[in-house]
Amino acid sequence: MKRLYAIALLLASPFAAAGEFVDLRDAPAVGGDAAAGSAKVMVCVACHGPSGNAVVPAFPALAGQHAGYLYQSLAGFRRRADPASPMTAQVQTLSDQDLRDIAAYFAAQRRTAPIATATANAPGARLFRDGDPVRGIVPCQGCHGLDAQGHPQRMQAARYDYYPALAGQQSDYLVARLRHYRDSALADTSNARIMQGIAHNLDDTAIVDLAAWLATTPR
Ligand code: HEC
Ligand code: HEC
Repeated sequence: MKRLYAIALLLASPFAAAGEFVDLRDAPAVGGDAAAGSAKVMVCVACHGPSGNAVVPAFPALAGQHAGYLYQSLAGFRRRADPASPMTAQVQTLSDQDLRDIAAYFAAQRRTAPIATATANAPGARLFRDGDPVRGIVPCQGCHGLDAQGHPQRMQAARYDYYPALAGQQSDYLVARLRHYRDSALADTSNARIMQGIAHNLDDTAIVDLAAWLATTPR
């Protein structure tokens, strides 16, 4: 029974089977139909907030996130089927087309402005723009854009749509996510491996500073 279940999961995976490595270096545009997606997100907004504007700090905001990043994130939850993630149950019964439509829907939503205002020379702002050679921290802006809106070349190449915007993301979620890249061995895509390498040198102070600045920067 257990084995049958595993086989069903493998067949359902859009990108690759569980345990396989996914190369996103030449990933194509996601496509997806935002209008069709709007009919498939009823259950999602219970946790991720109206139109994907999360209210609970541990739940990531999805509104205005790039479709490529959202799609591969959802495909990854389904592929890995990690029992510890609340997302596993959410994506198991969705088709590949559903994931594309849902990604297109949330990408088209407007993210609400943060309540607090970002400070231009806050420690997190400086780390994001300049990095810190002494601590071995590279600048984030080269890949996430000067104002954390996404990769600077996103409009030129579809593969850069798979790089997330970080502005206006929930700070608790950012802290957890960065610690996960730093401390976990799991990185099953070429993009996750890039971020794992970056996070390797982030100390807890840097993570909290970066998250605080990003969460107050408008998307
Ligand atoms: C029970 C609450 C809950 C529901 C319902 C839920 N999510 Fe999530 N979602 C989470 C949590 C918590 C996380 C972060 C934890 C994690 O990554 O495992 C997350 C993470 C995500 C992420 C990753 C975001 C990022 O920036 O990488 C995406 C995308 C996402 N959810 C989409 C969805 C979609 C689409 C649905 C509906 C089909 C949905 N979620 C339903 C709780 C939920
Ligand atoms: C060389 C390019 C590169 C640099 C530099 C980089 N990132 Fe990333 N980052 C990525 C890619 C690619 C992803 C998508 C990874 C994935 O799909 O899991 C990512 C994902 C993330 C995420 C996950 C977002 C989410 O919604 O779950 C966070 C947070 C993040 N980066 C923060 C940072 C911070 C902070 C820095 C600077 C210390 C940084 N990144 C520097 C390429 C980069």
